[in-house]
Amino acid sequence: MKLSMDMVTSISVCTAEDMNWEGGGNCLVVPLYRKEFPLNSALLQEEEELVLQALVDREVLTGAAGTCYYLPAPSRPYSGVLVLGLGDRKKATAESLRRAVGKAASLLKANRVERIGVDLVHFPELPVPAFVESLNLAQYRFDTYKKEEEKPAPAVREVVLVVADSVDKAALLEAAERAAFFSVAANGARHLANTASNDMTPAVLAAAAQKIAEEGGEQCTCAVLDQQRMEELGMNALLGVARGSGKPPQLICLEYTHPEATRTITLVGKGVTFDTGGISLKPGAKMHEMKFDMCGAAVVLATMMAVTRLKPVLNVISVVPAVENMPDGNAQTPGEIVRACNGKTIEVLNTDAEGRLILADALAYAVDTWKPDCIVDLATLTGAVVIALGHVAAGVVGSDSALVQSLVAAGESTGERLWELPLWEDYEEMMEGTFADLSNIGPEREAGTITGAAFLKAFTGDTPWAHIDIAGVSYGIRNKPYLKPEYATGFGVRLLLEWLTGRTAQSGQASE
Ligand code: BES
Ligand code: MN
Ligand code: ZN
Repeated sequence: MKLSMDMVTSISVCTAEDMNWEGGGNCLVVPLYRKEFPLNSALLQEEEELVLQALVDREVLTGAAGTCYYLPAPSRPYSGVLVLGLGDRKKATAESLRRAVGKAASLLKANRVERIGVDLVHFPELPVPAFVESLNLAQYRFDTYKKEEEKPAPAVREVVLVVADSVDKAALLEAAERAAFFSVAANGARHLANTASNDMTPAVLAAAAQKIAEEGGEQCTCAVLDQQRMEELGMNALLGVARGSGKPPQLICLEYTHPEATRTITLVGKGVTFDTGGISLKPGAKMHEMKFDMCGAAVVLATMMAVTRLKPVLNVISVVPAVENMPDGNAQTPGEIVRACNGKTIEVLNTDAEGRLILADALAYAVDTWKPDCIVDLATLTGAVVIALGHVAAGVVGSDSALVQSLVAAGESTGERLWELPLWEDYEEMMEGTFADLSNIGPEREAGTITGAAFLKAFTGDTPWAHIDIAGVSYGIRNKPYLKPEYATGFGVRLLLEWLTGRTAQSGQASE
């Protein structure tokens, strides 16, 4: 998988005395909470301090959340000072810092800054991991299809964290580097998702997974089931969706195992490389956005890439059903009935509800093959989740509340919010078929996200399962300055990595 080069490559920690400003393109970053004057910096030279204080007096600089000011300082050891507005101290969170850093990133870029010294001497409480990851996310650029000269100038390559002597420098560096790596993985998912659908086919997704396995070493293997193998296994729900496309479907199984692992976790990601709706064709406006219908797959694969490097004491299995949903003379038509690999029959009343059809076979196969302790799927499954939660949170629905809560907690810490929706039996009844066991759509447009999840539940057996509907958060985010609305967000990568390797996973572990 190609990872973007626009990321922080080097992080170091030092005290104010040891700060070395040699070389050009240096910028001192001074945090400022709202109305907490005077500026509090261990590194600011007197001259700049005076200029900035004058700006404070004129209320140009207020420290309001997300406000930034760049002051060039050509005669100094640093070539500029960036004042980073953090807002009210009482309201400050990791997410408010991420958003402020997102704004700062554009200013740093405009001023061609390549190296920053972040003055944390008087700000030991600042969540440094959030700083580093939001800088990485903000600096990500997708320019695969741009001419060389249109490609943007280099961004910040080096971050020096300037701290008080009492700070545990090694621990801070480790936390910062871990966050940087999480965001590099998220950018990897964004890259897969941003790639045009003619270049991001099911076969290309499979090749990306194979590459992750090769680079992942002996703890990692990849098996891709082709159409013939899926026919033998009776995966007719998945195969039905693929029938209209000339691009053959792939069931991508990427496994990471640890010799001391006592738990097996399965991640499943929807990989519809383009969703036209099939014979139940989507309207033309915005249809191009349906290249993002493989964001679940991209997130799961990028998470696996990171897992193979971080090597947690877990078995992590990922299953990605990859297809293209097209209308064609041979495409599936509404009313067809298919039998999934677990024997359940499904009436396909709408060929645009294809995500649940491919996930049905993927979930049933995963549960049966690996007998995991839990299974989590991510899918751009329903437009309804955008109606329910907007672009602010993903919907989460599951059969095990401890599992769901552990995911919600992980998302809270990474700024990738999940909001649980209920899964009462009433919803499962709404998915019963007239002529088959199940229908692939519910009545009218009622509770669309939950009925989608209720359908999936029928393929998870007794395995604790959670489904994350990322349709609203995978692209088109306008209020997070560290993302770009035109780009895929990689939503879920940092959440899953935090959940798999951080404290939140342990809470899920303890309660299952
Ligand atoms: N991929 C779409 C869901 C989607 C919609 C993702 C908007 C991102 C933005 C999915 O396959 C779909 O078409 N779902 C249908 C389900 C319906 C037919 C029950 C929908 O949401 O309209
Ligand atoms: Mn669809
Ligand atoms: Zn879809």
